[in-house]
Amino acid sequence: MADLNTRLGSFALPNPVLTASGCAAAGRELSQFFDVADLGGIVTKSIMLRARSGRPTPRMAETPSGMLNSIGLQGPGIDSFLANDLPWLRDHGARAVVSIAGGHTDEFVALAKRLYNHKLDAIEVNISCPNVESRGQVFACDPIAAGRVISAVRRAAHPNVPILAKLSPDVTDIGVIARAVADAGADGISLINTLLGLAIDLDTMRPALGGVTGGLSGPAIRPVALRCVWQVHQAVPHLPLLGMGGILTGRDALQFILAGASAVSVGTAVFHDPTAPIRILAELNHELDQRGFSSVGEAVGFAHHSA
Ligand code: DOR
Repeated sequence: MADLNTRLGSFALPNPVLTASGCAAAGRELSQFFDVADLGGIVTKSIMLRARSGRPTPRMAETPSGMLNSIGLQGPGIDSFLANDLPWLRDHGARAVVSIAGGHTDEFVALAKRLYNHKLDAIEVNISCPNVESRGQVFACDPIAAGRVISAVRRAAHPNVPILAKLSPDVTDIGVIARAVADAGADGISLINTLLGLAIDLDTMRPALGGVTGGLSGPAIRPVALRCVWQVHQAVPHLPLLGMGGILTGRDALQFILAGASAVSVGTAVFHDPTAPIRILAELNHELDQRGFSSVGEAVGFAHHSA
């Protein structure tokens, strides 16, 4: 059996499979299918300062090539999260990666300060949600804006808590954004968020989603996600990467690791199969063994090595 231990900065994980933000709230729903402590970690749905109702419905559309969502960062707000969700994760032995989102740098800073005295394993800074009020709030599309948010969060958060910057695929050069967040003090990078998309409902002949556009996820975006992991690994080889985008099997997860990810998140797959993360972990273990890897670490970025 390969040694599955891995790291995202100072966050040591017993294995490299986590949930993806937004696909299982704070993990409660998944706990009826498996022990949440058995995963590398649970990445929570992005939390904001105040409760939000999100975008108008319908907010999900299945397309033949993937799932579109326009949730719009619906959530209970940080007070409820700290009172209910974070304690639940701790009580269940899960490693908690808390995703935060805000419309302005100040909101990210306020969230990092609220989390300062709480026990958690990492903060994922969601600067790449496509379903925000204006494109200017997709901070991950601009290196200066991305760097500004990340350096402010890095200063405000507990120094022992690693900060992961979550990036968007909707950019010209993801390496430029990766270098900007690395320079700003990110301890790791999560990639990718969903890809901006649209579906038209042929009955109404109008956009299928109430919010018009949405974020595409699932296997359709896997090659895009893999390309981003590859390019970011080349741009900032010293930074650990959390890879995600349409991972359905252990073979998919291994591709992300070979491209440079130290760990992977499983998202859309849980809608069809809530046991997907734990199954993918077992499959990944087998795939590593079959290729003679004695540890995850040996496989990280292997595809970049000359043959
Ligand atoms: O596709 C996404 N949907 N990405 C996010 O970061 C947040 C989510 C939402 O709430 O709209």
